[in-house]
Amino acid sequence: MNTEIVKILGNDFTELSRAAEIIKAGGLVVFPTETVYGLGADATNPEAAKKIYEAKGRPSDNPLIIHIAEPLEAEKYTYTSPAYYALADAFMPGPLTVVMKSRDAIPPTTRGGLDTVAVRCPENPIARELIRLSEVPIAAPSANRSGSPSPTTAAHAVDDMLDRCEMIIDGGECDFGLESTIVKIEDDNSLTLLRPGKITAEDLVAKGFAVRIANAVLEELPDGAVALSPGMKYKHYAPHSPVLLLEGELSKCVEYICDNSKGADAIICYREDSAAFSAVPGVTIYDFGTRDDIKGQAHVLFNILREIDKHDFDAVYAPLPPREGIGLALYNRMIRAAAHKIIRL
Ligand code: TXA
Ligand code: MG
Repeated sequence: MNTEIVKILGNDFTELSRAAEIIKAGGLVVFPTETVYGLGADATNPEAAKKIYEAKGRPSDNPLIIHIAEPLEAEKYTYTSPAYYALADAFMPGPLTVVMKSRDAIPPTTRGGLDTVAVRCPENPIARELIRLSEVPIAAPSANRSGSPSPTTAAHAVDDMLDRCEMIIDGGECDFGLESTIVKIEDDNSLTLLRPGKITAEDLVAKGFAVRIANAVLEELPDGAVALSPGMKYKHYAPHSPVLLLEGELSKCVEYICDNSKGADAIICYREDSAAFSAVPGVTIYDFGTRDDIKGQAHVLFNILREIDKHDFDAVYAPLPPREGIGLALYNRMIRAAAHKIIRL
């Protein structure tokens, strides 16, 4: 398949009508959102949804998020409850995905055979206009091949999806850089946080919600455990070099790396610490921004992981992020990249 790459500059959205025609005809279009790039297809067309699974190399029991242009469109595809309207009021359009019971309008192929469906109304203007012009909800997972980090630039999406989709829309770097927060609305109107993101647990609590954090957000699921979100049971975001998360005083971390070095290590490090880590022989430093700039770290993490994957390092060291606020989203992605290997010094 020949992939057309279309760059959108400013507010000139003329090219989007062709992208919408591709979606309507059951084809695949990569598009930017405020979180990461998505690989989109008509969510109401099971054949189109099947193409997404094939292009990504994704198991077909891992459901897709459906993207809508207006929060109220969720009524056509799910059984909405008062909690949904409260979430929509507070956070939509934006980087929040809500899992609710599905209506039949969304075929089982799109939702991985579950009776629920995940709905998100993105705020990126290109994404919203594409959905509006397509006149259908757009099913879109992150536009990476299964197992590699989500793309945060069109170049990343080209690396993974060239010749696997009809069009890639280049809308520049994604604002946030980590995937949306996912919550499930429970029968008692409380929320289960399935994936942390820019909308934090604290943000949800501040709006009066009772929030429970799913076990798999923080820990490795024991063998045989049922994941509340199918995506949690798959290995994700892991570079081919082993990643280790270090927690402890700077001097102890430097000492640990020196003691264990085989000569080709990478360190994802806070800017304040780079001078100290530069002393380690044979090390490649990846700048993670300043320690307090969690948003900056979220913005660059996946790009750094992709850069690291171009090399063969003996080990990749990174700091253990804080678990509060947006830090929880980083923590969740980084413990997965590290296959839960944390070294406390
Ligand atoms: O920011 C995002 O959410 C991006 C952009 C493109 O919108 N999309 C994204 O999709 O990250 P994906 O497919 O890479 O991740 C969606 C996650 C998967 O782990 C999947 O298992 C989970 O959402 N999910 C989807 N539908 C679900 C459902 N009905 N119940 C529980 N988990 C669900
Ligand atoms: Mg993904």
